[in-house]
Amino acid sequence: MAGVKVLAESSVVLKSVPSKFNFVNEPTASNSDSIPIIDFSLITSAHPDQRSRVIQELGKACQEWGFFILVNHGIPENDMEAMFEAASEFFNMPAEEKRQYEPKNASDPIKCGNFNVTDTSNQTFTLWRDYLKLYVHPEFHCPLKPEILREALLNYSVKMRKLAGALLEAISETMGLEKSYMEETLNLESMFQLFAANFYPPCPQPDHAIGIPPHTDHGLLTLLIHNGVAGLQVEHNGEWFHVNSPQNSILVNTGDQLEIFSNGRCRSVKHRAVLNNEKTRISIVVANGPSLNTILGPAPPLVARDGRASYLPMKYEEYIESQLTKSRVIGKSLLEQM
Ligand code: SIN
Ligand code: FE2
Repeated sequence: MAGVKVLAESSVVLKSVPSKFNFVNEPTASNSDSIPIIDFSLITSAHPDQRSRVIQELGKACQEWGFFILVNHGIPENDMEAMFEAASEFFNMPAEEKRQYEPKNASDPIKCGNFNVTDTSNQTFTLWRDYLKLYVHPEFHCPLKPEILREALLNYSVKMRKLAGALLEAISETMGLEKSYMEETLNLESMFQLFAANFYPPCPQPDHAIGIPPHTDHGLLTLLIHNGVAGLQVEHNGEWFHVNSPQNSILVNTGDQLEIFSNGRCRSVKHRAVLNNEKTRISIVVANGPSLNTILGPAPPLVARDGRASYLPMKYEEYIESQLTKSRVIGKSLLEQM
């Protein structure tokens, strides 16, 4: 497995993408400055008016967009930089070093490579992306090389867990539930946390290939940072929008499990990663879910309020397994296929 990085850097100047990457990327996206921005420092603020205002904004963001830009989150810039450096070093390692992590099973806790997807007309194509995916909690898995990765990732994944926990408390409040409701009912101290680093090299024909096709995330909350190169797009009311986020902000999206738990109040929205022909884009993603043995369904107080449950409960581990097989068909989220 040489990887897309090696292909993109090969001495043969690529004028077009090899046919195995061919993907018709439609429809095009527009710019939006209305993607909600949430100031995390106001969530932890002692000022009751400021706090209740931001809780309201947060509830609206989860409901209308399923997506927001988090600023003043307190994660040091150095911790983010360390992740980009460690991820770049990983992708720069020789192919022989990375080969040991080529997936044998979808559930391997350490894996890297490129990914094939099948579209709705049964065509299989390769994504223009190299990835590294690691299970980091409740068990921590990490490759031995590069050496800087382990410490940076341990530190970063703990901080992301704390941040996700604080956001989930605030999101509970937006739905009129006790702050600790999710922590207690979803076994969050042993939450399943998945780390992914994505490397998208410049692509000679950005419209003829894709980094990651439209999908929703299966967990509760995904936290994403990128190296300043744009490429993430989200779907909102049937249209695609570029996400232009300020430097050092964290992009947060609510996943399938939160949509189910909230009985549809929070939306798990489709998003995709598109390409450009100039710069390498790197994204660092931490997906935070309930514990794998949690049987997650709509929260009973919300069902009582709504008069009906809009989703069936399912063990999270089984949900992930069914997603690994079903959602390879692009353009559909698992929620739609249930
Ligand atoms: C993802 O959806 O998992 C990553 C998208 C991105 O790289 O921006
Ligand atoms: Fe995603």
